[in-house]
Amino acid sequence: MTATTSIHGMWSTRMAFILAATGSAVGLGNIWRFPYTAGEYGGGAFVLVYLICVAAIGIPIMMAEIMLGRRGRQSPINTMRLLATQEGRSPAWQLLGWMGIVAGFLILSFYSVVAGWTMAYVFRAAGGAFAGVDAETVSLMFGQFIADPEALLAWHSIFMVMSVAVVARGVANGLESSVRFMMPALFLLLVAMVGYAMTSGHFVEGATYLFRPDFSKLGTEGILSAMGQAFFSLSLGMGAIMVYGSYLNSRSSIATSVVIIAGTDTLVAILAGLAIFPLVFANDLAPQLGSGMVFKVLPIAFGQMPGGQFFGTLFFLLLVFAAWTSAISLLEPMVAWLVENRGFSRVRAAMLAGVAVWLLGIASLLSLNLWSDLTLFGLGFMDLCEFVAANVMLPLGGVLIAIFAGWMLARSSSIDELRLGDGVGYRLWWLLIRYVAPIAVAIVLLNAVGLLKL
Ligand code: PFF
Repeated sequence: MTATTSIHGMWSTRMAFILAATGSAVGLGNIWRFPYTAGEYGGGAFVLVYLICVAAIGIPIMMAEIMLGRRGRQSPINTMRLLATQEGRSPAWQLLGWMGIVAGFLILSFYSVVAGWTMAYVFRAAGGAFAGVDAETVSLMFGQFIADPEALLAWHSIFMVMSVAVVARGVANGLESSVRFMMPALFLLLVAMVGYAMTSGHFVEGATYLFRPDFSKLGTEGILSAMGQAFFSLSLGMGAIMVYGSYLNSRSSIATSVVIIAGTDTLVAILAGLAIFPLVFANDLAPQLGSGMVFKVLPIAFGQMPGGQFFGTLFFLLLVFAAWTSAISLLEPMVAWLVENRGFSRVRAAMLAGVAVWLLGIASLLSLNLWSDLTLFGLGFMDLCEFVAANVMLPLGGVLIAIFAGWMLARSSSIDELRLGDGVGYRLWWLLIRYVAPIAVAIVLLNAVGLLKL
């Protein structure tokens, strides 16, 4: 009854799928967003809530997304419609796919701008711009950079062209090899940076900040943000992992893959935190550095360490690759849908989606300079997109996925697809996806909008 292949192509092996999904998960979310968000909400308590969300909500939902994608074998919109119909449920479940498209669109628009910062920093590092700089100079440098809309536009445009180019060729081509080499390289470099942070004299202070929970600084918004960060970092709630699942062969074990993907993603985020926070304290900075944190902290280290010019260039370059492999997964659900429903070629679909995202990204980059006075709820356009997409849309998408997988889909269908039998593993997933994940996300969301007081 279920299709065994997708018209968009298939991953050649399970390893190719794991690499692609890890490529999607590991990105700016781990290295740029995790540290500054953790800093904003006081460190340890945020990290603890984030880790709990990854384990109890993220892992089961990732399994559900892959399972649904593999059963549907189409873009998330059509997968949801097909599965809902097969299970005798309302076709309105396809709206979940639509919300995912909108979320992906919003996320990629600002993601590409930040990826652009990273590209610019590759050249700065290579050109020796960080030699001997102090905290004040790098901060000024970053401030001047984001105040320049032309430079931001140029980098944003280049990054969008790069992302469209890969998606146009099909995600199964070319992605695998780049992730296979870049990801371990990024990992090793991060480990080396943590090693450097150990020599800063403030390692214990940084690690303590990251791991000792101080709930007084967390608050309602901090809990919401920690949960949003878990969804964002794992690429969940918008169909990116679902669409990747639709290209996975029917034999592969979903649970093992998910543990590898989520484990790697979490480890990278923690390493990034351990590399950055000791340097924050070593340079007498406050952890509330905002979204410029990595760009304001790591260059100081690259400017001082032996071989810093080389390591700095490599670091930002690998970060560009990590962002690139994530951006591709943000475009894929839209592109798959355009191919399926509009009969577009992949090239045309990718270009159309890319132009739309690029235009929205311009509003984001202008909100950093020319439009900085335009705010809603105290947030500029870029921050607003980030907040709404990560903290509202992804968790909402996640709850709906959990409800669909746990309550709408017949138990026999999920048993059939997950291939865990009806043992302890399956039952644990069943408990998490039916009760824990939806209830926990609902409580956090309702609490955040003030409908429920914790
Ligand atoms: N997980 C990516 C990161 O951490 O950088 C960002 C992302 C990719 C979010 C794909 C959502 C998504 F669907």
